[in-house]
Amino acid sequence: MTVLILGGAGYVGSHATDEFLARGYDVAVVDNLSTGHRAAVADKARFYEGDIRDKNFLADVFTKESDIEGVMHFCAYSLVGESMEKPLMYFENNVGGAMTLLDVMHQFDVKHIVFSSTAATFGIPEVSPITETTPQNPINPYGESKLIMEKMMAWQASATDMTYVALRYFNVAGAKHDGSIGEAHKNETHLIPIILQVALGQREKIMIYGDDYHTEDGTCVRDYIGMTDLIDAHIKALAYLKTGGKSDAFNLGTKTGYSNLQVLETARQVTGHAIPSEIGPRRAGDPDALVADSSKAQQTLDWKPSESLTDIIANAWQWHQNHPHGYAE
Ligand code: UFG
Repeated sequence: MTVLILGGAGYVGSHATDEFLARGYDVAVVDNLSTGHRAAVADKARFYEGDIRDKNFLADVFTKESDIEGVMHFCAYSLVGESMEKPLMYFENNVGGAMTLLDVMHQFDVKHIVFSSTAATFGIPEVSPITETTPQNPINPYGESKLIMEKMMAWQASATDMTYVALRYFNVAGAKHDGSIGEAHKNETHLIPIILQVALGQREKIMIYGDDYHTEDGTCVRDYIGMTDLIDAHIKALAYLKTGGKSDAFNLGTKTGYSNLQVLETARQVTGHAIPSEIGPRRAGDPDALVADSSKAQQTLDWKPSESLTDIIANAWQWHQNHPHGYAE
């Protein structure tokens, strides 16, 4: 049977593709290569270049891949700032794409889907750490689009025999342990890869956005989850659905928050570089602190995060050193 990985050439999707293959699964990948990299996908996976919003294309993939045991969805847009400027682009791709996908899954009687949701569905949470029952009030179109996807899945699951798992990622970073695949965005906006670009000499300094938040050192606090742990949760989620698990959502984090300054300091230790920094103004839409309570995933999926922030940055650093300009294409 086949696992169909949508967005399998992207940052998270390429690591999922790699690990499903390593664990002996038969894998097919769909990616429109708008942000992904063909070179990130191993030849062992069958590759279809196209867009999930294109129903004829998607139905054609489902016709060719006649034995799909589950779908993994990694092909949403995911930048908070961009979503504030282009909300419709986010609803069209994220919500529209998921709608077409659910329709085609139903048509071909494919019963399971695991998809990436996000801490951004919570907005500015009233409690910390955040549990699955914490109210979801997104403060940007990205988070809203993911919340709509969650709700759409829930309604479709209640009307059919399809089951889903929504995995709400907190801050994902890192790379495969051997540094052979990793994070390569055309316009990088995330803290850890930008810090490592400074360490590589590709940028002069890291601008830390704001130091007047309600946190211990005044900089934002985030809960970092390593790529290996993240992918392990997806594999366990699919196994859970395959063995009759009911549709559900799970928070994925480590229950430990690190401030932006703590992340910077850890990166200085890992890389041995000074990494010059400057405090700048706040970035719009940044909540003070986002920390996950993942007890539910630990109990229900038998998942346990094992990568420390140092491990995460060390893995990312290995990738960045080996591939200072990302994938050769
Ligand atoms: N930051 C800086 N300087 C930079 C880049 C980021 O100070 O150059 C700060 C941000 O202001 C924030 C922290 O570093 O305080 C983390 O920012 P990222 O952009 O790395 O990550 P976000 O927390 O904004 O967002 C990420 C994902 C979202 C997801 C969210 C959930 O990109 O998709 O985590 O926590 F929704």
